[in-house]
Parts: sequence; structure tokens; C-alpha cells
Amino acid sequence: MTQDELKKAVGWEALKFVKPGTIVGVGTGSTAAHFIDALGTMKGQIEGAVSSSDASTEKLKALGIPVFDLNAIDSLDVYVDGADEIDGHMNMIKGGGAALTREKIVAAVAKTFVCIVDASKQVDVLGKFPLPVEVIPMARSYVARELVKLGGVPEYRQGVLTDNGNVILDVHNLKILDPVALENKINGIAGVVTVGLFAGRGADVALVGTADGVKTIK
Ligand code: A5P
Repeated sequence: MTQDELKKAVGWEALKFVKPGTIVGVGTGSTAAHFIDALGTMKGQIEGAVSSSDASTEKLKALGIPVFDLNAIDSLDVYVDGADEIDGHMNMIKGGGAALTREKIVAAVAKTFVCIVDASKQVDVLGKFPLPVEVIPMARSYVARELVKLGGVPEYRQGVLTDNGNVILDVHNLKILDPVALENKINGIAGVVTVGLFAGRGADVALVGTADGVKTIK
């Protein structure tokens, strides 16, 4: 199976976590896009979705799924999204698609975070994938110097502005042995909007696409 076929398999498998009559939290990226396609088959059965990016909003609307403002909602049953890396403790690196801040907000509201990945995203230790950090533009150089002090090698993601109008630094060379501590430390740097480490609020369920089928990890 190709990587995209594995992504499709987990995207469709995630439908089993969607309850009729609810509003669904929807992530961003190529795996989440398969989930949105699958969700299209439940149009009319669900009340709608809350989206984590302009790209996902556009795709949801094109399928006729109503998209709600998060501020209009008290609670969310489930949030379904991909990841760039996931470790054995359900900690993740996210933000390869630059949507990390809105993803973290919607994930924080949801009762259950279902992470959908192909098996190549599973790692023992997070950090091989460069860690995305969303930064207020005027703080870019300062934040980069602070990230160097933490042992990272930050790289400015040229030409990319997030949906929130900010920039991304991708931090190379990190071996993340204590994800919660690093998440808190980086989030504490002035000018950082969000770090793409999802450790304090990791996944509750991971659906992993493998050549032998979709594996569910809880
Ligand atoms: C988007 O900002 C990311 O967090 C994605 O969830 C992550 O990059 C995974 O993307 P793919 O599903 O495209 O691999």
C-alpha cells in the first residue's frame, strides 16, 4: 500500500468515532483531508464541524458540511487530526501544515483526540521531524536565539504565513526526552504563539495505518 492509501484507510476508520447529531472537530493536512471526505458521507447526520484551518473549512463547506465558530460551542465530543510524529505515550509533533495553533485550540476543547497516522509517523523519541513553532513576526529573531539556547537549530519557514498572520520556525536537532517540559518551556518564550508539541494534551486514541490494516492504540 502507498502512504496515501494508508492515510485514507485511517481517515475513513475514524468515522466510527463520530456520533450522529454532534459537531465534529476537524484537523488539517493530507490525512485529515481523507477524514473530511469520509465525513461527507455523514452530512445530514451530523450537526456540523469546527475546523482548525482555512483549508479544512473550505473543504468542509465544499462538501456541504456546516462549519461552526468555536466560540458558539460549549463542548466538542471528538477531534480528529493527523500528526507529523507520535510516540508511545501519545505525545505528538504537529504543524507541518502550519495549522498548529488552531489545531491545539480545537483539540483542547474536545473530549477525545483521535490521531490518524500512517505507520511512518510512529517514533520512539520525538524530534526527528523539525519541531514547528508559530511566532509573532517581530519576535522571530529573538525566539530563534532562545531556541538555540535550548539546543535546537531553528529554520525560518520562508514564504509561509499562518492563518493567524504569524511565521513559523522549524526547530531541527532536538531529541525530545521530556515533551511536557519542553512544550511548557517553549510556550513560555515571549513572542511564541504555540509550539507544535502536543504533550500536555496528547492523543487519546491513535489509528495507525499499516500494511496489515488499521491498528487502534489507546
Ligand atoms: C498540520 O498543521 C499538521 O499538524 C498535520 O496534522 C500534520 O502535519 C500531518 O499532516 P499529514 O496528514 O499531511 O501528514
